Amino acid sequence: MPGSRDDSGFMVVVTQKLLGTKDQKELTNVYNELGARFEEGVRTVSYEGPIATAEIVRRYVTDDKATFLDVGAGTGIQAEELRKVGFSGDFDGLDPSEELAKEAMRRGRYRQFFHEYITETEECSIKTGTYDNIVSMGAFIPHHIKYQTITELLRIVKTGGYVFICIRKNYLETEHYQGYQQFVDKLQKEGICEYTAIDIPFYYVDYPGLVLVFKKTQ
Ligand SMILES: C[S@@+](CC[C@H](N)C(=O)[O-])C[C@H]1O[C@@H](n2cnc3c(N)ncnc32)[C@H](O)[C@@H]1O
Repeated sequence: MPGSRDDSGFMVVVTQKLLGTKDQKELTNVYNELGARFEEGVRTVSYEGPIATAEIVRRYVTDDKATFLDVGAGTGIQAEELRKVGFSGDFDGLDPSEELAKEAMRRGRYRQFFHEYITETEECSIKTGTYDNIVSMGAFIPHHIKYQTITELLRIVKTGGYVFICIRKNYLETEHYQGYQQFVDKLQKEGICEYTAIDIPFYYVDYPGLVLVFKKTQ
């Protein structure tokens, strides 16, 4: 069961700090300063999003050996949950924070790590059609990754593969998601992907979540 909100807790302070950053570099510095403490902090509250996302991924992806790229991977909590539901293929992580990545690799959660930003202006170093599927947990949020980069994730995933993005539901009402529905409608109209959004009861403490599911169709 989810815990109640702790408005004086470590994660609230961290979230305020992250949302107060003025650019991506400053944001990455906050994550680097946190390092291993990030996951310790997350573990002090209930973080149901990765568990619910893994269960949803399991419904769509039947191949146990499927490969995954985890975008905004952090220390790899999502990878751990995917293993628990039976995925045993190669997982790679992508995240600009080297300190979080160090922790992820120390815990053996990924085969390799890309220290990069996903942006809407430039392609990252990963080749087109590389991964069977992509997951992203808690990274398409204000001050972090923009929804316009979903086009870039659809480039990296194989045709027929899925992109799963888990967010706090009410982020869809923020400026960060302005124009999102039109963006998704256009992708579908152009036949690039199929799309559905699945409600999950709890993303983090008692906040409801959403898993955005894109299937690459061409
Ligand atoms: C709230 S943390 C979530 C980490 C992890 N997925 C989890 O659930 O524990 C958000 C992550 O997104 C990463 N991030 C922020 N902007 C990014 C970008 N443009 N491209 C890739 N990752 C980014 C941060 O470095 C951070 O590790």
